[in-house]
Amino acid sequence: MRKPFIAGNWKMNTDALGGAALAKGIAAATKGIAGESVDVAFFPPFVYLQSVVAAVSSSLIGIGGQDIYFEQKGAFTGEISAAMLKDVGCAYALCGHSERRHVIGESDELINKKVLASISGGLLPVLCVGELIEERKAEKTNEVVERQIRKGLKDVSAEKMEAVTIAYEPVWAIGTGLTATPEQAQEVHVFIRGILAKMYDKNLANSVRIQYGGSANAGNAAVLMSQKDIDGLLVGGASLKVDDFVAMIKAAAV
Ligand code: PGA
Repeated sequence: MRKPFIAGNWKMNTDALGGAALAKGIAAATKGIAGESVDVAFFPPFVYLQSVVAAVSSSLIGIGGQDIYFEQKGAFTGEISAAMLKDVGCAYALCGHSERRHVIGESDELINKKVLASISGGLLPVLCVGELIEERKAEKTNEVVERQIRKGLKDVSAEKMEAVTIAYEPVWAIGTGLTATPEQAQEVHVFIRGILAKMYDKNLANSVRIQYGGSANAGNAAVLMSQKDIDGLLVGGASLKVDDFVAMIKAAAV
């Protein structure tokens, strides 16, 4: 049984007071659920990590970095290491979010180094994959997703895979209001599980959690979660509103 996992990616939003209030509000409304019947994580901007960790300290909600750098320390201006994320109380790190791939220009090779550095640094990476609209129209979804999974997980042993969550986020659905249909998402999730079965084995493939992301909201969370291979949601916009995100956590908990 894969435990549902709902995560909020705050992106470049909130401020010090608003972030702490958002975190506290969600933690209070999901007591007894978050971390029990459903894993919950927030990915706030780096500068607010410590205040958000403090805000949820009496809950079982996990906190993570929206990005991570693969080197341990040194002259890497502007970057944040796994040890630094751990030091401020993080449990997770997002690796290869589509905005990092397509706005910042990260490669599969760089993302792979981030996945490996997260695991060796004691963090749980969430590896994000997903196709552009042109790629879907050209029927290249499977090809793109397979490349991102194989390259992103290069040198990740079966043992290390215990730390990994995959997030399937079709780029055309992110922040656009165009959610993939539950069937479209389920189809790719099954495909991803098939790749994992080939790379590792069937048992491992069945144990890895695969989240869906892309305009997931309080209205569609339950139907997305009802799909057999959708184990959770990676949520952008709707994770910034207490009521919406709480409803999504509750929808996943049943
Ligand atoms: P969205 O973002 O829910 O606002 O579409 C999802 C994500 O980028 O993780």
